Parts: sequence; structure tokens; C-alpha cells
Amino acid sequence: MKIAIIGTGYVGLVSGTCFAAWGHQVACVDKNAQKIDGLVRGIVPIYEPGLDGLVERNSAVGRLSFTCNLAEAVKGASVVFIAVGTPPRAGHGDADLSFVYMAARELAPLIDDGAVVVVKSTVPVGTGDAVQKIIGSVRTAGHFSVASNPEFLREGVAIRDFMEPDRVVIGVEDERARNVLMELYGAPLEAQKTPIVVTQRRTSELIKYAANAFLATKITFINELADLCEQVGSNVGELALGMGLDKRIGTSFLNAGPGYGGSCFPKDTMALLRTAQDYGVAVRIVEETVTANEARKRRMALKVMDALDGDVEGRTIAVLGLTFKPDTDDMRDAPSVPLIETLQRFGAKIRAHDPVGMENAGHLLSEVEFFDDPYACACNAEAVVVITEWDSIRKLDLVRLKKTMRQAVLIDLRNAFEPGVAEKIGFRVSAIGRSA
Ligand code: UGA
Repeated sequence: MKIAIIGTGYVGLVSGTCFAAWGHQVACVDKNAQKIDGLVRGIVPIYEPGLDGLVERNSAVGRLSFTCNLAEAVKGASVVFIAVGTPPRAGHGDADLSFVYMAARELAPLIDDGAVVVVKSTVPVGTGDAVQKIIGSVRTAGHFSVASNPEFLREGVAIRDFMEPDRVVIGVEDERARNVLMELYGAPLEAQKTPIVVTQRRTSELIKYAANAFLATKITFINELADLCEQVGSNVGELALGMGLDKRIGTSFLNAGPGYGGSCFPKDTMALLRTAQDYGVAVRIVEETVTANEARKRRMALKVMDALDGDVEGRTIAVLGLTFKPDTDDMRDAPSVPLIETLQRFGAKIRAHDPVGMENAGHLLSEVEFFDDPYACACNAEAVVVITEWDSIRKLDLVRLKKTMRQAVLIDLRNAFEPGVAEKIGFRVSAIGRSA
């Protein structure tokens, strides 16, 4: 099948590359000439394990191409995916759909007759209807379909999530779109028996927000239970396991931490709330989730202060892990930013290390000293704070780390280390959801 993908951000680039790996002819198009130039030369603009190799292999065999020329990309394509960004509108929190609508307006006169336009960007309910209208106002003759096909991949494990999804959701209003999308996903996922949920376009659009809001709520629930564990002397890890093994609950997304971040949960929960407000509906549990998560991120600085007897003025603190989660260079809404800024306001000197996120972190943080080496980062520090549970951070030699520090205090906001082990080495440990 010939496929065009508009937008080479996370979703567009990963989806396009994976469709090519499934044997389709994929043209990825973006207005950013610098990005396209790089991709043509095999330079992948995001950090995603495995993506470079997959881009290189599929480009080399001619199945994957990159261009700034929309007409060229959509010519002859049976499916055109819109995978452009939908950032939050400043001051509103609802999704800015201008890039989606612009893509629809631009592709309208260029697509082949019978093409299926699929919105893959995360968009509020009713966006498919609007895209249909925009294209319909230009193409008064001929046929086209507009479908919804939200993407559920996670950064860091994006290729596996795309290739082995728990489910695929397809929102269609006509048979042609249904058949084309079933053909696209059906065969490659048949062996894995992946469920394909075929529904109306509006339901499909809402599924994406509902799933992200539910996961954000699940994390927030366990985070609040972690606070309770600390007060009553329980262990949140074992609590999560004991709860999660009930199949109706599930063990995943029950890791307590400093609060969720990233480009999706914060943005999508807010956008869902805006949609609910527009329709006069209260989704109170999501409202509380958003408030609780924001407060939690800020409160983490107090946890660090407590571990240092309430005073960080003039003290040196080493922060290990800056990105919103491991295996990404993404700093968007990372809990590390409010934490570091608050500690700085209280007079702390911050040294920081992250395996890949330091460049992006440098654009957001000031007066932070960055270190490629985690041990050098901890040198002379009076406390180490673990914010992101990178594998390389989990594997640090605590004995060596302690030797470099002025004072052995470990504030482990991801429960990356066994408190008992760290304590035996001589650390004073403050963890999440444990009364260590
Ligand atoms: C999330 C969803 O998991 C994907 O299904 C979805 O496709 C994506 O958003 C999107 O809408 O594009 P992502 O933002 O890449 O994916 O990251 P997650 O792995 O979901 O983590 C989000 C945040 O929750 C991170 O800050 C992470 O540290 C935190 N988290 C996650 C926890 O604190 N505890 C957990 O148990 C799980």
C-alpha cells in the first residue's frame, strides 16, 4: 500500500517507519526542511531506542522516504495520515488544532480520488468531523474518507508498542475507510491476535483521551497511597503488587514516583477537561488527578528538604536523571524541573546528570552544573536525588558513589535502589512510599 504521513514528530516518524517495516511504501512529509534534510541523510531527530536502525534499513531498500513536498508524498497514496502536533493552547489548555486543520486544507486538493485521510494526532472529539468539512469544501467532486486511528505508543518503547500493540483502535464512518485500515493493520497483527476495535470516529477520538486520563489517574492513585504508606509504615511496592495481581486492576502503571510528566498525560488530561467543560460535563476524578499531580511535583522539593533537616541553603545537591522517564531525551513537563527550581529558590546548588537529556535540560534550567559522569556529579554533594530511573542509574555502584560525597544522603524518588542495601553501605535513605 502507498502511505503518506504528514508530520515527522514522535508519532509520525515511528508510525511511518513501522509501516515501511511491514512492507508498505511510505512517504513522510514535514515542513521543517532541516529535519527532512537530516532524515534523508539518516539523522533521526529524536532519541528512541532502535529507531535509527529501522529508519536506515527501510530507507536503504527504498520503502521509506522523506520530503517537504506534500503533493509528491500524497500522490498515489491510498492512506494519508495526519500526525502533526496538537500542543496545548497557551492559557487555555485545550488542544491547538491549527496544524491539523492546516494539513487538511493543504492535502485536500492534492489527494487521489478514494484516498482515506486518517487523523493519528491526539485530537478532541469532533475533529474528524471538522477535517471532513474542510476537505469536503475543497473537493466537491470525487470521494474521500476521514477516519480516526489514535496512537498509543510510549516514548522509549515506541517501536515495540507499535509493532505489538495491546489493541488497535479505528474510528470510521464508511466501509471504504474500514476496509483500508483493516487491510493495513489486519495482516501484520493477525499472528499476534491483536484485537482491533472498530468504532465510530467520535468514540475513537475519545478513547485516546480516556486511556491517557485513566493511566494518569492510576499513577496518581498509587502516588497518594505511597504518601499514606510513608505515614503508616507500609511498603508501596508490595502494596502495588498485592493490589495489581488482581487481574481487574493489573500491576502496570502502579509505580509510585515524583508525579507523571511528559508530552502526553499533562496535556491530554487538561484537554479532556476542556472538552468536558465545553459539553457541561464534570469529570471530577480527572480534575483531581491534574491538581494532585501538579501539587506532588512541587512537594517533592520538600521531601528533599526534609531529608536534609529542612535546610538546603548553600548546600550542594546532585540530581541523577532529568528526563520525564528513562530512555528518552524528552524534558517536557519533567518533574525534575519544578523540583530543581524550588531547591534553587531555597538556596541549593544543583549538579545534575542524565544519560541523554542534558542538552534539552540545559534549555530549561539555569545555574545547574551538568556532568556526563554520575560519580563526578555526586562529588562533594550533601545529597543525591534520583528523579529518573535510567538503567544506568539503577546500576550505579553505591559504595563508589558514597565515597565521592560529602554526606551520604540518598533521596530516591523512583525507588530505584533497595533502601536496606543503601543503608548498609551507610546512606541515610528517603524513598517513596516506604517508611525507611
Ligand atoms: C503515554 C501513554 O503511556 C501512551 O500509551 C500514549 O500513547 C502516550 O502517552 C501518548 O499519548 O502519546 P508516554 O508519555 O511516552 O506515554 O510515557 P509513559 O510511559 O506513559 O509515562 C508517563 C509518565 O508517567 C512518566 O513521567 C512516568 O515516569 C510516569 N509513570 C508511569 C509513573 O510515575 N508510574 C508508572 O507506573 C508509570
